[in-house]
Amino acid sequence: MNLVIETIKNRRSIRRYLPLQINDEELSLIVEAGTWAPSGHNNQPWHFSVIQNKELIDMISDKTVALMKKYSVEWIRKMGEKEGYHIYYHAPAIIVISGKKNADSLLKPIADCSAAIENMLIAAESLNIGTCWIGFSGFFFAVATPEELKAIGVPEGYEALYSIALGYKDPAHKYGAPKRKEGVVTYIR
Ligand SMILES: Cc1cc2nc3c(=O)[nH]c(=O)nc-3n(C[C@H](O)[C@H](O)[C@H](O)COP(=O)(O)O)c2cc1C
Repeated sequence: MNLVIETIKNRRSIRRYLPLQINDEELSLIVEAGTWAPSGHNNQPWHFSVIQNKELIDMISDKTVALMKKYSVEWIRKMGEKEGYHIYYHAPAIIVISGKKNADSLLKPIADCSAAIENMLIAAESLNIGTCWIGFSGFFFAVATPEELKAIGVPEGYEALYSIALGYKDPAHKYGAPKRKEGVVTYIR
């Protein structure tokens, strides 16, 4: 099979990592792949904060979990209440992806940033590095103070949208591919 297609299909959301930091060269290749994503009007309205500081990663997780535990939706509360739940699964590195605020209303930084995220997930998989796209961090981003946002590298004029957990996969854990929905394509010829 074509290697790119195979890499896309092999990527899984990884939730168990080895306690080893990712090598700088691999990390920079992954972030660079993010910058090669398409963007509306070639706006490139993204900023990537690569965080390898355990205290900061744990701080985001702890504050997010505290918010999840109080949230109105039951399945989110239950996730937050899971024993030992860490939103980044103790990954050694995370990337916070921020989008430019107040962009032209026709432009959608969240779409551009999501394209960049997918590029990074596929690039990481091609290097056999595990990733997980993390939406829950949005609970913290929504209430973070300007000082906290500065500490996690969100520039002025940008809003933190999503984050990614990254690390070497724990080989002891095998992941089945979640079944893909059928009937999601219409061909019109
Ligand atoms: C926008 C978005 C937000 C997500 N947020 C989380 C998250 O907070 N925590 C998590 O463990 N997985 C999260 N995921 C991963 C999905 O659960 C995962 O992609 C899905 O179950 C399919 O599994 P796969 O990625 O292995 O194909 C998120 C994925 C997307 C696209």
